[in-house]
Amino acid sequence: MTANTKGLRLDHFSRVVFFTGAGMSAESGVPTYRGNGGVWDAYDWESCACQRAFDHDPERVWDFHDMRRQMTAACEPHAGHRLITELESAAPNTVVVTQNIDGMHQKAGSHTVHELHGSLWRVRCSGCGAIEDNHEVPLSSRRHSCGAYWRPDIVWFEDSLRLPTIAKAIAAIEACDLLVSIGTSAVVFPAAELPLVAARAGATLVEINPEDTPLSEVYHHCLRMTASEGLKRLADDL
Ligand code: OAD
Repeated sequence: MTANTKGLRLDHFSRVVFFTGAGMSAESGVPTYRGNGGVWDAYDWESCACQRAFDHDPERVWDFHDMRRQMTAACEPHAGHRLITELESAAPNTVVVTQNIDGMHQKAGSHTVHELHGSLWRVRCSGCGAIEDNHEVPLSSRRHSCGAYWRPDIVWFEDSLRLPTIAKAIAAIEACDLLVSIGTSAVVFPAAELPLVAARAGATLVEINPEDTPLSEVYHHCLRMTASEGLKRLADDL
């Protein structure tokens, strides 16, 4: 493993996957989940981010998610997000696989984004299963026209990942020749082990994160810097 990316030219790769976590959005002002100032420092997921909590008190769960929508809506993509979209324009096989629910990659202009954990900006009817995009802040009605509550279309704790989404993500990762992991603590499964799929397929792996993670030793190159700094470094080495 090396911190040196000299000689690592992005244009030597034809199928690049950016695998992102909350640290990707940190420089946009969206807090990460773990560590100082993290969302799960201030809030207890068992009372606001699982189906049991929603069944018990949907209004409280929506108060939490309306707060997160309001906070996220005020944030803008940073230079790192924009660099990924530029690379996507130059190399259309580029794919983003994200654990983030904030929609920041799409706001920056990325087109192929597989959202493993769903989206803050979609709602799903807990009664009839209807799904809609919704960017209202706050949500104007917490109930669908059928009378049942909307719930955020997010993969909460104890939920299963959506099979079509994980299948597309795995297909992209199996086919990639470079995987760049950015800003994830690599502790939430099954997402955390996706970089191993790329490793088994023989791809080159780069980690961008100011801190070590449990998966760091799997990567060929580790850049101990922020998302925007690391992406700029990769682009500058072109
Ligand atoms: P975490 O909050 O667990 O980890 C964030 C990671 O980002 C840490 O490893 C930090 O070191 C790193 N980091 C912090 N600032 C950074 C920066 N400026 N640039 C780059 N990296 C930085 O977030 P995730 O790994 O995404 O689930 O968490 C995984 C899942 O757990 C999330 O998707 C979320 C949560 O519960 C749902 O929302 C359903």
